[in-house]
Amino acid sequence: MLKLSIMEGAMASTAFPVSAPRAVPAGMPLPDIYARVSRHIPAIEWPALVPDIEAILRLKRERNAVILAHNYQAPEIFHTVADIVGDSLALAREAVTVKADVIVLAGVHFMAETAKLLNPGKTVLIPDLAAGCSLADSITAADVRGLRAKYPGVPIVTYVNTSAAVKAESDLCCTSGNAVEVIRSLGVKRVLMIPDEFLAQNVQAVLPEIEILTWAGHCEVHERFTPADIRDVRESYPGVTVIAHPECPPDVVAESDFSGSTAMMMNFVLEKRPAQVVLVTECSMADNIAAANPDIEFIKPCNMCPHMKRMSLSNIRHALETMTHEVVVDPALADRARAAVERMLAVGAR
Ligand code: 13P
Ligand code: SF4
Repeated sequence: MLKLSIMEGAMASTAFPVSAPRAVPAGMPLPDIYARVSRHIPAIEWPALVPDIEAILRLKRERNAVILAHNYQAPEIFHTVADIVGDSLALAREAVTVKADVIVLAGVHFMAETAKLLNPGKTVLIPDLAAGCSLADSITAADVRGLRAKYPGVPIVTYVNTSAAVKAESDLCCTSGNAVEVIRSLGVKRVLMIPDEFLAQNVQAVLPEIEILTWAGHCEVHERFTPADIRDVRESYPGVTVIAHPECPPDVVAESDFSGSTAMMMNFVLEKRPAQVVLVTECSMADNIAAANPDIEFIKPCNMCPHMKRMSLSNIRHALETMTHEVVVDPALADRARAAVERMLAVGAR
């Protein structure tokens, strides 16, 4: 098996504009935009999407708004109305530099909250307030205070997939794109890395010299993959390249050829251009890359994130029309939560 580095790729979490210019049938509305998704959206379905896309493009101009979309967004969002796409780290970084009055976050609530923390003066909207995350739900601020009392002096590194209240109790944040670098930057022998148990265990495998204590939170999408899934795919597709997100259980990552954040996974595929690849993660990842790379065959399985899939063109349009749902962060904890995110960003900038 081809064995490549686990989670120590370059800081590959740049915004990731993907387009695939392609001839489209004459008379098709918004032909340039359709060209980017024509391999994914049948021509017959396109006219039904056009009114929402046109309205969103107009509203973005009128409101001076930008749309930040996570890599798990469906192709009809990712390739048509999004201004900036990327992994959690890229979205946090881009949120700092964005020149707009309004940010619409096509992703989940913790991402919108992070954008708001970094842009207290801007209006941040999320199209559906119920777009949560099983990891964010797995831990509370009181839990973190309990850990601090139990492990005095041990730094607490918190995955960005958490509420602002949890971030506020933490020393600094990390994402799957910089977890190894962030933990290493502390220069300590023992660290608490919460709440994703599997991410912490996968980082532990890369940093055996540091004792990493963790919490029993899991991503409901990635915890469902098993080593047997990987073995089955390898048996059916000899030579296939397997790439797993580090929120997967460690025995799944161990069976894979590469592991990294969603942006690292994308960059890996675009650089190595394997003939056949399995992305052991959320389903839209493969769809978004496949739309622009017909020469690469993407083998499923994948799992769907129900929270990410709460985003749609119609609720993005509604968010911009009505300026809802505005994301607010309790001022009593915003400064401390922002500091934890900014300390993470400073590690990447060094
Ligand atoms: P990244 O995009 O940072 O890899 O995170 C994946 C994730 O958990 C999004 O829900
Ligand atoms: Fe949360 Fe997992 Fe969905 Fe990401 S994929 S938002 S970690 S539940």
